[in-house]
Amino acid sequence: MQKNQANIIVLADEHTMNYCYPLLLEEVSSFIVPYGEGYKNLDSCEFIWKKLTEFGATRETILLCLGGGVVCDMGAFAAGCFQRGMKTVLVPTTLLAMVDASIGGKNGVNFMGYKNYIGSFSEAEEIFICDSFLETLSYKEKVNGYVEMLKHGLIADRLHYDQVKMLFLQENQHLEDQLILDSIAIKKNHVDQDFRDQGVRKRLNFGHTIGHAIESYSLTINDENESLSHGVSVALGMIVEAYISTKMVGLSKDELHELTMVLQRVVSGISDDIPTYEELKPYLIKDKKNTEQGINCSLIASIGEGVHDQYVEVSLIKEGLDFLANLK
Ligand SMILES: NC(=O)c1ccc[n+]([C@@H]2O[C@H](COP(=O)([O-])OP(=O)(O)OC[C@H]3O[C@@H](n4cnc5c(N)ncnc54)[C@H](O)[C@@H]3O)[C@@H](O)[C@H]2O)c1
Repeated sequence: MQKNQANIIVLADEHTMNYCYPLLLEEVSSFIVPYGEGYKNLDSCEFIWKKLTEFGATRETILLCLGGGVVCDMGAFAAGCFQRGMKTVLVPTTLLAMVDASIGGKNGVNFMGYKNYIGSFSEAEEIFICDSFLETLSYKEKVNGYVEMLKHGLIADRLHYDQVKMLFLQENQHLEDQLILDSIAIKKNHVDQDFRDQGVRKRLNFGHTIGHAIESYSLTINDENESLSHGVSVALGMIVEAYISTKMVGLSKDELHELTMVLQRVVSGISDDIPTYEELKPYLIKDKKNTEQGINCSLIASIGEGVHDQYVEVSLIKEGLDFLANLK
């Protein structure tokens, strides 16, 4: 990117300014927000808008969001509102942001404790994927990406699932570039068919109805360093929703057992932290996919075959949470 200072402003967080900015550009305007989900909110957007104003940004200025899902989601949202829309370029620096958050034009911030409650659909001008950034990423953060990659396999491609699961089973497994690209392609395929999230794109939410509720609840009762990560929360959600899938859409018990065994590598040791339905209820009923028909989940009929718009009885959610809490 050969842009001059007036045309491009980098938004980073404290970590990506240290680790990633030096790999990317020199002598370009930049500013930082604090890192972490706790800062993905409207206060941070106001800070971003103030900074952009101080820099004299216009609609023609590019805001280059250099970071994980938090910086990409929030930066793209803030840029979309600034003067009714300035240009946005995403440079995802976590695996999760590469395979998931940066792809598909959904952006936004958390609001009143609810995940991504304020936001919009708008596509970035460009997205640059560069796996060199992953060299400074911790194993724990990589796992957040592996979980979303596994989900892509579970909803759409058995072979991708089989390849990604090896990343869970052996800690030092090398992550091939091609696997990242395959995962992006699965996400992109769903987005291209259904940008506004009215149909097949919802399948990407497998594990996320319960997972987001667990993540939001955990963020409410813990400080951010002790709360469950996005990846762990979604892994827990996938186990519960896979259990529900056996009851509603014919997922076999063998496949439930198989994927539970893989996901237990991520979630083992946290069975004491499994919330009850009553604890999750405030978040479940606020899920953006719900309609008057009730709590809407995306499930899997088999490994590699997602289904969407499944309205789940409360009793079945409770059963799924019991199944999770009783895993050994
Ligand atoms: N828009 C979407 O479609 C979509 C999809 C999935 C997730 N998300 C959102 O993504 C967010 C989670 O993203 P995330 O997991 O990337 O979290 P994150 O952005 O908080 O990044 C995780 C941590 O890694 C640090 N970091 C980032 N890149 C690094 C690097 N290269 N080296 C060292 N440290 C680095 C960050 O500073 C942060 O501390 C959530 O807010 C979630 O809602 C959005």
